[in-house]
Amino acid sequence: MTMRSVIVGCGTCLPRRAVSNHDLMKTVDTSDEWIVQRTGIRSRYIADEDEKTSDLAIGAARQALAMAGVDAERLDLIVLATTTPDHTFPATATKVQAALGMTGGMAFDVQAVCSGFIYALAVADNFIRLGQARTALVIGAETFSRLLDWNDRTTCVLFGDGAGAVVLEASEGTGAAGDRGILSTHLHSDGRHYDMLWVDGGPSANRTIGHVRMAGQEVFRHAVTRLSEAAEEALAANGIKAAELDWLIPHQANQRIIEATARRLKMPAEKTVLTVDRHGNTSAASIPLALGEAVADGRVKRGDLLLLEAMGGGFTWGSALVRW
Ligand code: UT7
Repeated sequence: MTMRSVIVGCGTCLPRRAVSNHDLMKTVDTSDEWIVQRTGIRSRYIADEDEKTSDLAIGAARQALAMAGVDAERLDLIVLATTTPDHTFPATATKVQAALGMTGGMAFDVQAVCSGFIYALAVADNFIRLGQARTALVIGAETFSRLLDWNDRTTCVLFGDGAGAVVLEASEGTGAAGDRGILSTHLHSDGRHYDMLWVDGGPSANRTIGHVRMAGQEVFRHAVTRLSEAAEEALAANGIKAAELDWLIPHQANQRIIEATARRLKMPAEKTVLTVDRHGNTSAASIPLALGEAVADGRVKRGDLLLLEAMGGGFTWGSALVRW
């Protein structure tokens, strides 16, 4: 028998204010046509000053716990993926922990930018597999808009804010691909590309929070290659063919990246969950937001095989294969 982490609940939370491309056009030298053609984005949510990363994380976490029927006191672990913590320290996860009324266990943040949710899921899955936790909450939460330079039209139109969460519970499996739960995770990074997608501030570098800077075309090229490799790696490790996948739930950076990756896998558009049109790129929150939406509207059903994959700053990239 093998220890598996089964996802028993998921939840999402978006800021109250949606901002369309047309809204942005009032202050940014851009057009709806350019943004839609190059990225597929039509709208995104932007957090108001009183909406912090922790607020969005708590909203998503409460929904996930309610769906799972799990009381926060039962949690052993919270792993929160974010690039935009409320404060430089302590970890935003500890704020979520207190708000949920969880007084034991452990809570910490993970930083892998847009791959953050896959990283956090892998960390929690490994704690569960090793028997160091039985019940875990994994959150991807961002107020990425706080890092945007609204004078840089090449980046400010791309990102949005939000949060998604899942609850994991330890369960015995046979070790085969038919088991429910997380079948595999694979993580990668290559720090040689540090300054292709980065923030030009930080406590140690210059005592500021800085702004997002990106070599868009380079990132695009790497994203399609790395995401395709990550998908192939996950399938090979589990002895599964792409045709057996029910859903591709990718990080939502750009519709063209998602379509190019899906094409390489020969996954039809109907089997790909797409939210980038309404959410923009929400960094670590994008995969749990897409998963939460597809579960809530009934697309993802018990027993479905899901491939989650992401690529982001660092570069970091990775995958998780999940039997729902
Ligand atoms: O989540 C982590 C991963 N992040 C990503 O995966 C992002 C990857 N990169 C991309 O998605 C794309 O590279 C972008 C969407 C960022 C840019 O698309 P592109 O097709 O690579 O455009 P470009 O950077 O080559 O720019 C083309 C033109 C330029 O004008 P010229 O020099 O050709 O006259 C830009 O100045 O588009 C112009 N442009 C804009 N025009 C209107 C750039 N941004 C805008 C804008 N509105 N917002």
